[in-house]
Amino acid sequence: MFAATRAVRAGASFYHGQMTGTDPELVLGFADTYVCQSRTYDDTRGAARETHEPLLKEIVLLAPGSRILDVGGGTGNYALPMAARGYEVTVLERSPQMLAVAAGKGLRVTCGDATALPVEDATFDAVTMISMLHQIPDWRGALSEAQRVLTPVGTLVLLLYTAEHLRDHYFLSYFPTSQEWVGTDHAPLAEYQDALPGARAIPLNIRGTDDLTMQIMRRHPRLALDATLARQTSYFARLEAEDPEGLAKGRAQLARDLSEGTLPENHADDLPQGDAALLAWQKPETK
Ligand SMILES: C[S@@+](CC[C@H](N)C(=O)[O-])C[C@H]1O[C@@H](n2cnc3c(N)ncnc32)[C@H](O)[C@@H]1O
Repeated sequence: MFAATRAVRAGASFYHGQMTGTDPELVLGFADTYVCQSRTYDDTRGAARETHEPLLKEIVLLAPGSRILDVGGGTGNYALPMAARGYEVTVLERSPQMLAVAAGKGLRVTCGDATALPVEDATFDAVTMISMLHQIPDWRGALSEAQRVLTPVGTLVLLLYTAEHLRDHYFLSYFPTSQEWVGTDHAPLAEYQDALPGARAIPLNIRGTDDLTMQIMRRHPRLALDATLARQTSYFARLEAEDPEGLAKGRAQLARDLSEGTLPENHADDLPQGDAALLAWQKPETK
């Protein structure tokens, strides 16, 4: 299990690298992972073109200067191309270490938790949540917070790994202890759509390795054998913390299967559900 740490103090903020408010502290769980990952995250987790181009398309109607909140925005890798389009982007994060890297890129940053956003109602024209919702047990709470802070007709865009994406991921048979928590952390697409009525789902086929998530390693399994690269993903970081023996065993089997050419035949193929999905939702106009 991850070590228990201290409670987050939402409301502490950094702006352009300058910290205001009380010192942010850490929360339970993956926050510990990102203390370490923040130093090397950008080495393997850049903005994938296959992700940020369709994402920008969803918010393209916003006028330059529109306000965007990138919740769980990490080191700001996806916030940067949005800022380059002239939007006023704020990266919100619960990890002060990840935020410090984003602030170093000149991005506006705020420390806080996605389930209790330290933000007034109706202040952002768009909210983005990229590769992060599976890390939040109360993901419905995080979605309703995102809806609350959106202006009427504002857009919410999520980059999601759903149960359907993980269902066809052969890594889970190599690392069987991950099956239980992966099943809990990734809801079926329909559940996310129920929480956001009218949301459109767009499957993404992400073939490149610019943003080397565990999902993308499906197509590039040799990279999962490199412990340094793999622990840059929350999946392998969690396995390493909770089941190091299972991780070593699964990796040895994967290495054997790779050298013998016995991986599932379609392991590098495009899947109908994609490697991930964008979910785009528009807040209804107030009457
Ligand atoms: C896989 S990283 C994705 C970062 C960034 N969106 C990207 O795609 O590069 C997940 C991020 O979500 C953040 N996170 C997880 N749970 C959070 C929460 N409850 N509130 C705010 N941030 C959270 C983590 O600290 C981490 O930086």
